[in-house]
Amino acid sequence: MAKKIRCAIIGYGGMGHFHAAQYGKQKYVELVAICDTNPEKFKQKEAQINLGKSGKSKLDKVQYCASYEALTSSVEFDMLDICLPCPLHAEYAIRAMKDGYDVLCEKPMARHSSDAVKMIETARKTGRKLMIAQCLRFANNFRKLKEIHDSGRYGKLLRMDMRRNGGLPKQAWYRDPAQSGGALLDLHLHDTDFIQYLLGVPDKVMTFGITRTTGGIDDLMSNYIFADGPKVSSEGSWCRGPWSSGVVAVFEKATADFCPEGIRICPVDGKEKILKVPSDPNPYFNEIAYFTECIAKKKPVKICPPESTLLSILIAEAEEKSARTGKMVAVKKPGR
Ligand SMILES: NC(=O)c1ccc[n+]([C@@H]2O[C@H](COP(=O)([O-])OP(=O)(O)OC[C@H]3O[C@@H](n4cnc5c(N)ncnc54)[C@H](O)[C@@H]3O)[C@@H](O)[C@H]2O)c1
Repeated sequence: MAKKIRCAIIGYGGMGHFHAAQYGKQKYVELVAICDTNPEKFKQKEAQINLGKSGKSKLDKVQYCASYEALTSSVEFDMLDICLPCPLHAEYAIRAMKDGYDVLCEKPMARHSSDAVKMIETARKTGRKLMIAQCLRFANNFRKLKEIHDSGRYGKLLRMDMRRNGGLPKQAWYRDPAQSGGALLDLHLHDTDFIQYLLGVPDKVMTFGITRTTGGIDDLMSNYIFADGPKVSSEGSWCRGPWSSGVVAVFEKATADFCPEGIRICPVDGKEKILKVPSDPNPYFNEIAYFTECIAKKKPVKICPPESTLLSILIAEAEEKSARTGKMVAVKKPGR
């Protein structure tokens, strides 16, 4: 067995902890270091999240560093896993690729599409691999839905409705739309990205949204307009109490509805059935496994290339414009 890829995580808050928990059972990669400017975060020497068997790591052999400079000068590693707040993604991804590291970076790719473009340019110039962790592309139930869609088993997709609603995160940077992009860019982007992954870039978007406390778009409903395509809508919010999310996809011959066991299939003619989809390994485990397999086997990143995640940021920017103007907005294509 070849030597494992050595990974360092930068940003050890909520998501850094989630990612750290995924490295215990990986085939191609081991976690060697964790970096955070707040050393208070280093007290816990085990990461465990309640997401099936895949989410647990012992962290007693990991090196802890309080800055990127300390990390790169004192630890030998090959790949940086960026779990920093959104406005720092582009800066650190670019820096790391220039310093010779492959980069897995949390979503959103960047606060602005112009920064996402610079990330792609740097990946091309340096030859480093870059992948944005759009986790729905790696979630077993979403993978199954894509497989159902692409197989044409139930005919064409006519309509899809998605939902992702919760309360306002506590950290100050989330509550500043200049940094987080509000619920629209931070949370709702998950669904925007999956829609784009499944169906391509819509021609136009029409978004109804409100700002309540943050000045960002805190609660919204978007319609994605595809010429001759399915009617797609998606709701996202930081103004709701209990967390809820869901997907309903109406095909010509059946409706697919996410449920706790997997996907409920309700055929037009025939009996309802539950398609069981295991939730383990969880999407965070799967995205790390996939990216590191691409590095180890020198394969292109096909499921989630940065050129594709840039498109999702461009759609989100059109949604923001639509929500703020009350008008339908055409989605920009890269380079225009
Ligand atoms: N994929 C998902 O399901 C999901 C869920 C939640 C968050 N996220 C994303 O993960 C990212 C991080 O979110 P979070 O909730 O973990 O944020 P957080 O505020 O909990 O953690 C960020 C951490 O980064 C550290 N930090 C800040 N500047 C630093 C620097 N220059 N060097 C080193 N460390 C630094 C902070 O001290 C903090 O511990 C965001 O982009 C967010 O959108 C993704």
